[in-house]
Amino acid sequence: MNVSKRVLSRIANNAWWSHVEMGPPDAILGVTEAFKADSNPKKINLGVGAYRDDQGKPFVLPSVKGAERQVMAANLDKEYAGIVGLPEFTKLSSELALGKNSEVIKNKRIFTTQSISGTGALRIGSEFLAKYSKTKVIYEPTPTWGNHVPVFKFAGVDVKQYRYYDKSTCGFDEAGALEDIGKIPEGSIILLHACAHNPTGVDPSREQWKKISDVVKARNLFVFFDMAYQGFASGDVDNDAFAVRYFLEQGHNIVLA
Ligand SMILES: Cc1ncc(COP(=O)(O)O)c(C=O)c1O
Repeated sequence: MNVSKRVLSRIANNAWWSHVEMGPPDAILGVTEAFKADSNPKKINLGVGAYRDDQGKPFVLPSVKGAERQVMAANLDKEYAGIVGLPEFTKLSSELALGKNSEVIKNKRIFTTQSISGTGALRIGSEFLAKYSKTKVIYEPTPTWGNHVPVFKFAGVDVKQYRYYDKSTCGFDEAGALEDIGKIPEGSIILLHACAHNPTGVDPSREQWKKISDVVKARNLFVFFDMAYQGFASGDVDNDAFAVRYFLEQGHNIVLA
């Protein structure tokens, strides 16, 4: 028995925790485990969607290294941030997402809080909706990033689906998505991947985004955008933010993680 199994069996025999169920195995991490155990020198791990070099090691972008150097050189004092984060950070990240000339920012129709990673942002957003939204149902694309379902469910928001991906064309199922979104009960929440949809990599075109915006508006849905990959789809941060900025221009109120 290895250490973790021993610890688990001790916990299982403990009256306090014997009712705790084992969580489901993570399919992607399972691929990583199998990859590590495989001795084939030509192996490639396609399980986790991150840049790798020719040796299979993580490829750290030069921009990330540059940012690290700037942080080190700034010799920060490590003071606690406020409850909603560092004001300079939240200001700059809002401008990155919405654009420097955003009317929403100019008119102070925005509130930003810093989070720990994209998952943390989803968690804060889903908790907020679970607490304050009148309708506690979110419609997510099929398929969607695996964690979207549990994050919202555990926060107390019921998760339902709309069609998104067409397996026969490996493309966006425009007709299916518009038909399903057109039937979502008014006042519900809809989750949209702003760009580089995970796991399909398929994004609506600008024309398709405009149609989605129209249907979403007609159904009076509240939009939750997840923009985990701004700049990674087209290589241009403004281009990738098109959907978010267009929806705001059309007068939608949104949450953006
Ligand atoms: C669509 C989507 N949202 C959110 C996240 C979470 O981002 P982070 O790794 O920063 O928590 C991911 C990461 O895979 C993702 O693919």
